[in-house]
Amino acid sequence: MPKIKITTLCENSSPGFGLVPEHGLSMLLETGGKKYLFDTGTGAGLTTNARLLDVDLATIDAVIFSHGHLDHTGGLEDLLEIRGSLPVYAHPDIFNNYLGSIMDGNPSYVGPPWTNEYLQKMNIDFIHTDSPLELEKGIMITGPIPRITPYEEQEPQFLRKEGQGFVHDQIYDDQALVIESSGGIVVLLGCTHAGLINTLSYIVDLTGKSKIKAVIGGTHLMNASDNRLASTIKDLRKFDIDKLGPCHCTGFRATAALHQAFPQQFIINQVSSVFEFD
Ligand SMILES: [Fe+2]
Ligand SMILES: [Fe+2]
Repeated sequence: MPKIKITTLCENSSPGFGLVPEHGLSMLLETGGKKYLFDTGTGAGLTTNARLLDVDLATIDAVIFSHGHLDHTGGLEDLLEIRGSLPVYAHPDIFNNYLGSIMDGNPSYVGPPWTNEYLQKMNIDFIHTDSPLELEKGIMITGPIPRITPYEEQEPQFLRKEGQGFVHDQIYDDQALVIESSGGIVVLLGCTHAGLINTLSYIVDLTGKSKIKAVIGGTHLMNASDNRLASTIKDLRKFDIDKLGPCHCTGFRATAALHQAFPQQFIINQVSSVFEFD
């Protein structure tokens, strides 16, 4: 089994040294001689952080989008300027007129800052992940994740334009990345709008593997109720997880609760974090 190296290029927190924090996520996966960029952040920090961390963006083999929200797709144009055309894996719903975050009563656009036409103009090979897809042996994109867990409901602030009005957006394009290692599977999460328990349950079903070496990424528990948080922690205990690195949209309260519940497993993921697995 090839070694796995994950380097976090964009995240909400940074250790300083000029590394840019942002409300976004981007993690570089290196394995078997290939480099995959899982999400691209908002665009605020990708190129600066890559330069400071000695990551050559010109050598990326492909981009995988966890979903279409701006904080995961915003760095694509900067990447293409450096890299040129490359394959992009995502669910086609990334162009679904995302709206959200109704702070002042007016929904604002929170989708990609580029269009499908832009992808075509840039000669991007856009590979649709509307079902599980094995990128290569031992690396899988989950595709859409079944919503089964009753308490993992979609938050009301996410909307989508439909006709003249708005409908509640279920963000069905949300997906995760799974990499096999000899010690168990490694799971990279984007925002986990499908729910953390739904996501992990589906991955265990899909792969037939229950040993989870690490779960790293956003868990979207930032607005979770006390009940949802308690239920999530209770159900997380049913999984066999060695390392748990919740970050990005997890939020301080849920991060603290997860740290308290899983002190041995908890790891910090921020800009410049590197995780290696055999
Ligand atoms: Fe999101
Ligand atoms: Fe996000």
